[in-house]
Amino acid sequence: MKANPAPLLLLSVCFSGVYLLSHVEELKTQERLFLSSLGLSARPRPAASLQARRHVPSALWKMFRRSENIQAQESDPCTVSEYGVRGNIIRYVQDQGRLVSGWSSCQLCVEKQLFFNMSVLQPVELLSLAQLEIKFLWKPFSHTELLQGPRALSVSLYKVIRATLRGANAQGNRRLLLSQSVQLQPDPASITLDLTSLADSWRKPGRNYGLILELLPLSVDPEELLPFRPGNSLPLDPAYTLPLVQASLVAVSLNPHQCRSRQRRSAVHLPVSPSNVCKARRLYIDFKDVGWQDWIIAPQGYMANYCHGECPFPLSESLNGTNHAILQTLVHSLDPHSTPQPCCVPIRLSPISMLYYDNNDNVVLRHYQDMVVDECGCR
Ligand SMILES: *[C@@H]1O[C@H](CO)[C@@H](O)[C@H](O)[C@H]1NC(C)=O
Ligand SMILES: *[C@@H]1O[C@H](CO)[C@@H](O)[C@H](O)[C@H]1NC(C)=O
Repeated sequence: MKANPAPLLLLSVCFSGVYLLSHVEELKTQERLFLSSLGLSARPRPAASLQARRHVPSALWKMFRRSENIQAQESDPCTVSEYGVRGNIIRYVQDQGRLVSGWSSCQLCVEKQLFFNMSVLQPVELLSLAQLEIKFLWKPFSHTELLQGPRALSVSLYKVIRATLRGANAQGNRRLLLSQSVQLQPDPASITLDLTSLADSWRKPGRNYGLILELLPLSVDPEELLPFRPGNSLPLDPAYTLPLVQASLVAVSLNPHQCRSRQRRSAVHLPVSPSNVCKARRLYIDFKDVGWQDWIIAPQGYMANYCHGECPFPLSESLNGTNHAILQTLVHSLDPHSTPQPCCVPIRLSPISMLYYDNNDNVVLRHYQDMVVDECGCR
């Protein structure tokens, strides 16, 4: 895979050549190139409006901030130390399942389907971890309810192993993954479960039938649950007698093509000097200028820098020229019209992390190599 991020490609173009930026088509191509170097086939277009979007899970913010503050050589950008696995992409895959009724084996149960669209992972990615987290938020309906004390729920989680028709015998189509009881308190209770191999199998087309979560309130008067008879539709507000259930799947994956160099950015402070000799120049890329602020959550922009300047004869050591570049400047000095000067190009780049929404409104944290120019040289 070509790993050159397009803006860098665009900015490192040797200035002895003529390059016209103004062309709209050219820009479109550049955008596509850049997106593909970010591992995206197209510009994400999150469906939800800005206000309706999922908030960024605090664990992801923490990881993002940590990666921003990491100093030189401190860690491998292709390992997610928070989970102890290899990876450069962390997604919070959103649950798209619905409340269902009428499939249940037990009359008083409420069932929720859990569905995580794993097609958001690209085929090249290796899934290192998929961790299911189910949060139960109990919002007491009234003060009396609160005073009645904590309640408990019996929770059973099944994987669905083949497509089920509504109302068909569901028992043979599911396998129990977990069964336990959960104490409900106003503080959220949660269950986490490693689902890596199952989630990996969901990546094959047509193989994802999701999960079924069966909830049975343990300490509630059965009378209260009468409206929940199989076949009846469930009350739309599950907070009424049941806790709010929030499920998410944290998927950590590795795009091996984006794991070549290992150096981390050392805080680069480029000197401001008017010299026209090849060197790294400051450039701040503001994602708003590129019209990407609707899908990139953070950073809002970053110091990308670029290389610019002459590679004059005789090439001094500080210009980091190759033997070939030294010869080329020599030939150029003898006959400037036959041979151009070598190009001033990035020779050391460092990564950044980005937090964004994908097309399914999942929140994704990715580490990208080669996004910042640290050093330039004549090549
Ligand atoms: C899953 O996501 C893919 C890629 O974004 C999309 O094409 C597909 O329609 C989605 N499938 C479902 C069932 O939502
Ligand atoms: C060449 O590399 C050295 C360190 O190896 C660096 O200090 C210097 O700035 C580089 N030259 C240019 C033109 O960036």
